[in-house]
Amino acid sequence: MYKHVIRPFLFLFDPEKVHNFTMWFFPLMVFLYPLFRLLYNPKKSNKKIYVCGLTFRNRLGLAAGLDKDGTVIRFWEALGFSHIEVGTVTPLPQPGNEKPRIFRLIKDNAILNRLGFNNNGADALKRNIIKSRKSISEDFIIGVNIGKNKYTPIETAYEDYKICLEKLYEQADYFTINISSPNTEELRKLQGVDYLDELLSEIQKTNTELSCRKSCNKKVIFLKIAPDLTNEEIINICSLTVKHKINGIIATNTTITREGLFEKTEEEGGLSGKPLKQLSDNVLKKLNELNEKNEENKIVLVGVGGVFDKKGFEDKLNDGAELVQIYTGFIYEGPGIIKKLLN
Ligand SMILES: Cc1cc2nc3c(=O)[nH]c(=O)nc-3n(C[C@H](O)[C@H](O)[C@H](O)COP(=O)(O)O)c2cc1C
Repeated sequence: MYKHVIRPFLFLFDPEKVHNFTMWFFPLMVFLYPLFRLLYNPKKSNKKIYVCGLTFRNRLGLAAGLDKDGTVIRFWEALGFSHIEVGTVTPLPQPGNEKPRIFRLIKDNAILNRLGFNNNGADALKRNIIKSRKSISEDFIIGVNIGKNKYTPIETAYEDYKICLEKLYEQADYFTINISSPNTEELRKLQGVDYLDELLSEIQKTNTELSCRKSCNKKVIFLKIAPDLTNEEIINICSLTVKHKINGIIATNTTITREGLFEKTEEEGGLSGKPLKQLSDNVLKKLNELNEKNEENKIVLVGVGGVFDKKGFEDKLNDGAELVQIYTGFIYEGPGIIKKLLN
C-alpha cells in the first residue's frame, strides 16, 4: 500500500513540503494510533534490551532529524520503534539554510539534505517532550540530539552543547553529541583531537554537575560521528570517548562523498540511504575491532546508515551494534519496515 500508492503520490511533491505536511497531519490522526499499533508493531517480545542502564523494548529506533522538534513523539511510539532521537536541537531557534534543501535521489534510494539544523530551539523541544511523556508508555526511550547554533564560533561551541544539556536534562533519557553534520560550517572540526578533548571534558563536567544538582543519575551520552573519517581519526575519537567515559558512538551521520550514484547531482549536502550503507558499515566494523582490542573499556555502538531490509539490519548487529536506527529506509519503505526488520 505504502510503496505502490502512498509513496508515489507523496513523491510528486517537494520533499520538505511533504515533510511539513505529514508532521502537521500525524497529530490529527491520533484516534488512529491504536490501529497503527495493530498494523505496524512488531511481535511482542518479552526479551528486553539493556543498554547503558536503559531498557529498550527492541533494537530499532528512529534516527535524528526526522522529528527535530519532538512534535509527533506519540506517533513514533505507536508505530513500534523502541526509541526516537529528537533534534538536532540548538540552544536558540534558527531557520536553517535556504530552500530548497532536501532532494530525493530515487534511483539511488537516497536523500540529500543541507537543512542546517533548522529547529525551534531547546525550550520548545522541552515543552514538546513534557507534553508527549504524559501519553506515551514508560519504556519508550527519548534521546535528545544536540548541536550548536550557526553563528556560535567553533572555539566556544561547547557552550551551546552545555546549554542544551542544562535545558533538557530532565527530559532526555540519553543525549547525543552531534559533531558530524556536514551542513553547519566547521562543525565536523569538532571531531579533531583538540576540540573533541575539550568538548567531551566540558560535557562530562556539566553532566556531573547537573546530576548532583538535580539528584539523579548522570545521563547516558553518545557521540555521533561522520562516515567520512580516516582510520586514524576513528582511533583518536574512540580513545577520547574512552578517556572521557562517553557511553557510546552512533555511526554514522550522512556522507559528503558521491561515489557510485546512478543519479548525477551537483547539490551540496549530506547523502543518506543505500549509497551510505557500506561506508557507515565500515566505520562500525572499525569501532567494533577497537572494542574487541579493548575489552575492559568497551563502548556501546549504535548503527545507522542505509538500512532498508532485514539483511541491512542484521549486518549492523553483526558488526557490533547494540541498537540500530533508520531514517531514509523509513521514507522509502514506509512504516511496514519496522515489522520487516524486527519480526
Ligand atoms: C533530511 C535529513 C535530516 C537529518 N537531520 C539530522 C539531524 O538533525 N541530526 C543528526 O544527527 N542527523 C540527521 N540526519 C542523519 C540521520 O539521522 C542518519 O544518521 C543518516 O540519515 C543515515 O541514516 P539513513 O541512511 O537511515 O538515513 C538527517 C538525515 C536526513 C535524511
